Amino acid sequence: MEMVTIPGTDLEVSRIALGTWAIGGWMWGGTDEKTSIDTIHAALDKGVNLIDTAPVYGFGRSEEIVGRALKQYGRRTQIHISTKAGLAWQDGKVSRNSLPARIGEEVEASLKRLQTDVIDIYFIHWPDPKVPFEDTAGVMERLKKQGKIRACGVSNFSPDQMDVFRQAVDLHLCQPPYNIFERDIEDNILPYCKRNSIALMTYGALCRGLLSGKMTSDRDFSGDDLRNYDPKFQAPRFDHYLTAASRIEQLARERYQRTLLAAAVRWVLDMGAAIAIWGGRRPEQMDPIEDIAGWQIDGAFKSAVDAILAETIPDPVGPEFMAPPAR
Ligand SMILES: NC(=O)c1ccc[n+]([C@@H]2O[C@H](COP(=O)([O-])OP(=O)(O)OC[C@H]3O[C@@H](n4cnc5c(N)ncnc54)[C@H](OP(=O)(O)O)[C@@H]3O)[C@@H](O)[C@H]2O)c1
Repeated sequence: MEMVTIPGTDLEVSRIALGTWAIGGWMWGGTDEKTSIDTIHAALDKGVNLIDTAPVYGFGRSEEIVGRALKQYGRRTQIHISTKAGLAWQDGKVSRNSLPARIGEEVEASLKRLQTDVIDIYFIHWPDPKVPFEDTAGVMERLKKQGKIRACGVSNFSPDQMDVFRQAVDLHLCQPPYNIFERDIEDNILPYCKRNSIALMTYGALCRGLLSGKMTSDRDFSGDDLRNYDPKFQAPRFDHYLTAASRIEQLARERYQRTLLAAAVRWVLDMGAAIAIWGGRRPEQMDPIEDIAGWQIDGAFKSAVDAILAETIPDPVGPEFMAPPAR
């Protein structure tokens, strides 16, 4: 497993993090606790030592399951948890809330659900335009001084928003979306983080399964699965993205004898992410972890991917549909 040290901290983490949104069930058509715990253990067995979760994933369920899985596994000091604050929910409706009082309550609830006394990496999940960023950042600084969190991060923030946030606290990580199909960060966030030694821990490496190598046009998304309304999964775009995925798969096989999934995660890491979050909920989904290490993509592969995207996706769309509303 490739490891990386988060600048400004002593945290040494795996460059692949397990994402546990689907493990919470909400927006992913439900969850199964035993299978979820087995998935977390499978990732840990393969050398992953960073688990990403959030209170909003299943309204506490994902954090509870992560807490139970880590309790059973032991070795807590060798495993790092990243979780988040700044989203509130009522009757299943989510909105942004980074008021200092809310963050103070959230951290206590997360520590309890995770059955731990310290959160290794704490993110503000989405920028809340109704609360000055300095105020939220001030709470993060206080939590760090109190020893409740080790490293501070923001998710889905722009460079301007990070500039303000950093006036009140050292910012160690940034968590934006990034994968072969969602590349907005290349223009601004990626160079900003590089310039300011902020570790990029990006989410959606497999683009909600489109880059897994297993997605098909007749896949049925049950219940509240977000792909029922994700614009990439609607006609005619779904076919465009599937065609692109299949061409990239062929390229990865010809050039490197690698799968689409391995090339997609490798691409994220080699384009500049310190850590790629990969979402899974079944233990066998963790099998390909070992295919990611020990090789790199080159400039020719990157250019060939760019050419495939230009030829196959006439009307690209980003992950904006996931953004929760302000209060
Ligand atoms: N900060 C934020 O705002 C934010 C937003 C989104 C996500 N995240 C984090 O990032 C994580 C990952 O993002 P994501 O959940 O959107 O998805 P992702 O990693 O892009 O993709 C997850 C999807 O890939 C599929 N998959 C995983 N491993 C597979 C394998 N070996 N073979 C075939 N399919 C496989 C899963 O399939 P199935 O559907 O079959 O299970 C799931 O649909 C989340 O869990 C969360 O921790 C953060």
